[in-house]
Amino acid sequence: MAEKRKNFTSKLGVVLAAAGSAVGLGNVWRFPTEVGNNGGAAFILIYLLCVLGVGVPVMMSEFLIGRHTHANTITAFSKLAPGKWWRIEGVAGVFVAFLILSYYTIISGWTLYYLVQSLKGSLLVSQDYSAYFSSFVSNSYIPLLYAVVFMLMTHLVIARGVQSGIERFSKIMMPLLLLIIGVLVVCSFGMPGAGTGLRFLLKPDFSKVTASVVLSAMGQAFFSLSLAMGCLCTYASYFTPDTKLVKTAFSVCSIDTFVAILSGFIIFPAVFSVPNVNPDEGPGLVFVTLPHVFNTAFHSLPLLGYLFSGLFYLLLLLAALTSAMSLHESVTAYVIESFNIRRQKASALVSFCCMALGVLCSLSFGVLSDFTVCGLTIFGLFDFCASKIIMPAGGLIICLFTGWYLDRKLVYNELTNGETVPFRMFRVYVFLIRYVVPIAIILIFINELLG
Ligand code: PFF
Repeated sequence: MAEKRKNFTSKLGVVLAAAGSAVGLGNVWRFPTEVGNNGGAAFILIYLLCVLGVGVPVMMSEFLIGRHTHANTITAFSKLAPGKWWRIEGVAGVFVAFLILSYYTIISGWTLYYLVQSLKGSLLVSQDYSAYFSSFVSNSYIPLLYAVVFMLMTHLVIARGVQSGIERFSKIMMPLLLLIIGVLVVCSFGMPGAGTGLRFLLKPDFSKVTASVVLSAMGQAFFSLSLAMGCLCTYASYFTPDTKLVKTAFSVCSIDTFVAILSGFIIFPAVFSVPNVNPDEGPGLVFVTLPHVFNTAFHSLPLLGYLFSGLFYLLLLLAALTSAMSLHESVTAYVIESFNIRRQKASALVSFCCMALGVLCSLSFGVLSDFTVCGLTIFGLFDFCASKIIMPAGGLIICLFTGWYLDRKLVYNELTNGETVPFRMFRVYVFLIRYVVPIAIILIFINELLG
C-alpha cells in the first residue's frame, strides 16, 4: 500500500529543499567554467538578467502546477488537462530526471573520490593531474564503486520520505554548505592572486558578448535552477496552502545565484594565484586545474592545502547530493503514485535502475569510449538529449501551458494563495511567460542544435 502524501512542515524546509535542488554541480562546477569561457563579468550580468526574466517566471509556473495538483509531475498535467497531450511534459520531466540522475551520479562519484583522496593526503602530491584524472575516469571499477556509494546516500534520504528524509537533510546540508562556502571565500581572498581573480570576475568586458554567450547564459540558468525536469513541480506538490509561491521562487533563485557567484569568488582567486593556469580550462577546471592549483599554491603549507581541497570537494559533494535527491524524488513520487507501491520499494527500484544506466555512462569514459552514437559517447548522448533537447522543450511546454492553456484565474489564485497575498507584477509575469520566455527558449533550442 502506498504511503499517505505528506507536506513539508516549515517555510524554511520548503526554501532549503528547493534551493538544495537548484544548488548543485551546476553552480560550483559549471557556472565558473562558463564564466571562464565567456569572458567573466559580462557573462555574469547577462546571467542575472536570464535568472530574473526567464528563471523566476518558469519556476513560479512549476510551483503553481505542483502545488495546485498535489501530485507527481505526470499526474499533475493529467489532472489539469485531462485527456490532452500536455501530459507529455510530465512524462518528459520524469524521464529526463531519470536520465540526468544516471550521469549526475557518476560525476558526483568522482567528487566523492576526490574528497576521499584529499582527506587521505594522496591528491595533493606533485603529479600530472590531467593523466591522474584520465586514468581514474577510464578505470572500469573504481568510479563505479564511488557512484554506487553516492547513489546509496541519495537512496537512504529518499527512502525516509518527504519530512524525515528530504526536509530534514536539506535543513542540515544546506546551512553546512553555506558555511563551507563562507570559509572557502575568506581563504580564497587571502591568496596572492585574489586581486586579479576578482578583477576578472567583476570587470565586464562587453566585447566578448555574442548571441551564443547570451544563449549559454540562458541554458546555464535553466540547468542551474533545475527547471523543466519535474523536480520543482514535485517538490511544490509537498508545499502547504500557505506557502508563498512568488516569494519562494525569488528566494530560491537568489540563493542559487548567490552560491554560483560565490563559487566564482572561491575558484578564480585560487586559479590566478598560480602561474600558467588559465581560467578557461573548460570542464577539467574542478578535477584537473584545481588540484594542481591547490598543490602549487599551498606547497609550503600542506596542511592548509588539505583543508582547502577537502572542504572544496565536500562542498561539491553536498551540493550534488541535495540536487540528486530532487531528481530521485521526481521519479520515485511517480513510481509510488502510479504503481501504488511503498516508498522504500519504489526508491530502491529507482536507485537500482538508475545505477544500471549509470554503469554505461561510467564505462563510456573507458572501455566503451569507442561506442558512439552520432559522434557522442553514451555519457555525451545522455547529456545532449537531457540538457539540450528535452530540457528546453520541456521549458517551452510549461510556458505555453501556464501562459496560454491554463485558466488565468486559476493561475492568479494559486500565485496569490486565493488572493490573500498581493502580487502586483502579475501582468508582467503573464507577459514574460506568454511571449518573452517561449521566444527565448526557441532561440536556445535553435542555437544548441546548430551549435
Ligand atoms: N540544478 C542542479 C545543478 O545546478 O547542479 C542540477 C539539476 C538538478 C538539474 C535537478 C535538473 C534538476 F532537475
